Amino acid sequence: MRLDKFLCDCQLGTRSQLKKDIKAGQVTVNDNIVQKPEQHINEKTDKICYKGQQCTYEKLVYYMLHKPADVVSATEDVRERTVIDLLGDERRDDLFPVGRLDKDTEGLLLITNDGALAHELLSPSKHVEKEYECHLAKPFDVEQRMRLEQGVDIGEKSLTKPAVVHILDDKRITLTITEGKFHQVKRMLHAVGNDVIYLKRLRMGSLMLDSELPKGHYRRLTEEELRKVVTEDTNDRSGYF
Ligand code: URA
Repeated sequence: MRLDKFLCDCQLGTRSQLKKDIKAGQVTVNDNIVQKPEQHINEKTDKICYKGQQCTYEKLVYYMLHKPADVVSATEDVRERTVIDLLGDERRDDLFPVGRLDKDTEGLLLITNDGALAHELLSPSKHVEKEYECHLAKPFDVEQRMRLEQGVDIGEKSLTKPAVVHILDDKRITLTITEGKFHQVKRMLHAVGNDVIYLKRLRMGSLMLDSELPKGHYRRLTEEELRKVVTEDTNDRSGYF
């Protein structure tokens, strides 16, 4: 890994500032001053010091992104802007979004390099709740509600699992599901005779979209958020906190 990237991943500043600091002689690799930001280092074995302090590389990182429409939930794409592109200086090669939101869906997306956590959150057997705000093409009624709550036929082998519905007004609801089939929310509303015209994810398990986080922006998960999300996962991360 490049030295400037390593320091950036350690959250020591922006890539451009860190490049300047390296050129100014403020970084040592195995006790020797290195002034080339592009120099490759081994993050596992080299001793890197920044302004005299030894740096510790953060192995696992977790971001909450408020996904805007018009970006795709992928790590790379030849034509489209991806959610990883939105991370700017904090992007690193091992990050990926936990699950997919459609290109036109907005809202909560967890971005991490923790494959075990992603697996747990996405595993169908874990039934992790996903809550969506849905704006609908037609007025919502009790019949549609009953069918969503019971499970609907969206052309899969079995009916969808019972969903939880909260009515916000005649054309806006929140829908909580525990599965993650392709276009599931849109297909469920279509199956009951309505259509989704706007979709936003509000929550995944215990993790709520921060209402203060503007669209297109991201931030680190707080310790509290991370603790709760990781508790939903059965992998042993003792010693991580
Ligand atoms: N369901 C959908 O239909 N689209 C999404 O992006 C997420 C859930």
